[in-house]
Amino acid sequence: MQIINPRFVVTPHEVLSHTAVAFEEKIVAIDTLANLTKSYPNAKVIEAKEQALLPTFANPHVHLEFSANQATLSYGEFLPWLYSVIEHREELLPRCDKQCLQNAINALITSGTTTIGQISSYGEEMEICAASKLNIYYFNEIIGSNPAAADVMYASFLDRFFQSKKLESESFKAGVAIHSPYSVHYILAKKALEIAKKHESIVSVHYMESKAEREWIDNANGPFKEFFAKLLNQSRPVNESERFLQLFQETKNLFVHMVWANEKEIELLHNSDTTIIHCPISNRLLGNGVLDLEKIKPLPYTLATDGLSSNYSLNMFEEMRAALFVHAHYHAKEFAKELITKATAFSHEVLGFRGGVIAKGAPATMQLVSVPKDLVREDELFLHIILHTQLPQKVYIKGELYGK
Ligand code: BEZ
Ligand code: FE2
Repeated sequence: MQIINPRFVVTPHEVLSHTAVAFEEKIVAIDTLANLTKSYPNAKVIEAKEQALLPTFANPHVHLEFSANQATLSYGEFLPWLYSVIEHREELLPRCDKQCLQNAINALITSGTTTIGQISSYGEEMEICAASKLNIYYFNEIIGSNPAAADVMYASFLDRFFQSKKLESESFKAGVAIHSPYSVHYILAKKALEIAKKHESIVSVHYMESKAEREWIDNANGPFKEFFAKLLNQSRPVNESERFLQLFQETKNLFVHMVWANEKEIELLHNSDTTIIHCPISNRLLGNGVLDLEKIKPLPYTLATDGLSSNYSLNMFEEMRAALFVHAHYHAKEFAKELITKATAFSHEVLGFRGGVIAKGAPATMQLVSVPKDLVREDELFLHIILHTQLPQKVYIKGELYGK
């Protein structure tokens, strides 16, 4: 048994002071230090008087396969970025070898993230993911707008899906990712969603990330017109937006980006089990604009980094800082609390993993972050954690100090 005695416990729904946490693999009790040491006289006491104890984060949308990218891909505009992915894919993917993947996983954990939604295009990283200390919802992605290639693409998806199904455990779940309405033929999306329904898997889909996607799906026009004509010999989109969305009525879905979604689409999704995944840094770097959180309000949302293919970091503290500044019209103190609550408790709930809370019986998967010594107003704690934390000082996974 160990007892941590921090300056604050952030559950995250409440901030508790004069409170310590006793834990083994799970959190055993939350009480005053005096009461806990009386109940567990042999426990090791960890004093953390200048720190806050928080649950760890879940990051529901990353692309670990692209972790070798720092400056290979073109940033600033969506289509040039997409062309650069196609141009450099063959060298970027092998550059993310075993060591690169381990480094990305280590960077996630040391920055306080212990649960992820991994979007996997090829499946080469599957076993490393399954063996890692992270909880991983492993979304096997299907792509392919050309009907002639549909059978091959579907076979590859099925093969990866069932491989990941075999590796399922308490910390590794097999999911389905539909790349997007512009890149996945309707029939292919429908077939992959049948698999998700049958296996009760969560579905992830990039949706209305760019203005170009909006123009292409609505009007068969804009910068995708040349892209599809040149690269895929297509003149029409393979999906109509409302018909595509009808496919998602019976699955649990993560709709990623949604920056260019319209009210009709939001209304349609409102009738389904859908959470929006908001990636403000990726949206900014690819020139996609800012998600209007008021407009999507009928739907719940949470925060993710996206991959290193469209971000400089997988650190959720960076993403929360970006969100705080991007959504400048929200009250900083209240929005900071919302962001931390989403990134911990809500994102764990969305992915269906235990964790994200400091509560009796929850896994002792927690992080200790420094609290500024001069903090005066406790109700500003969430904001100062976001402003001042580069990395947590310690991360515990199921009661074990990570890296020690
Ligand atoms: C395709 O495979 O059809 C595709 C891939 C990327 C963007 C658009 C289409
Ligand atoms: Fe993504």
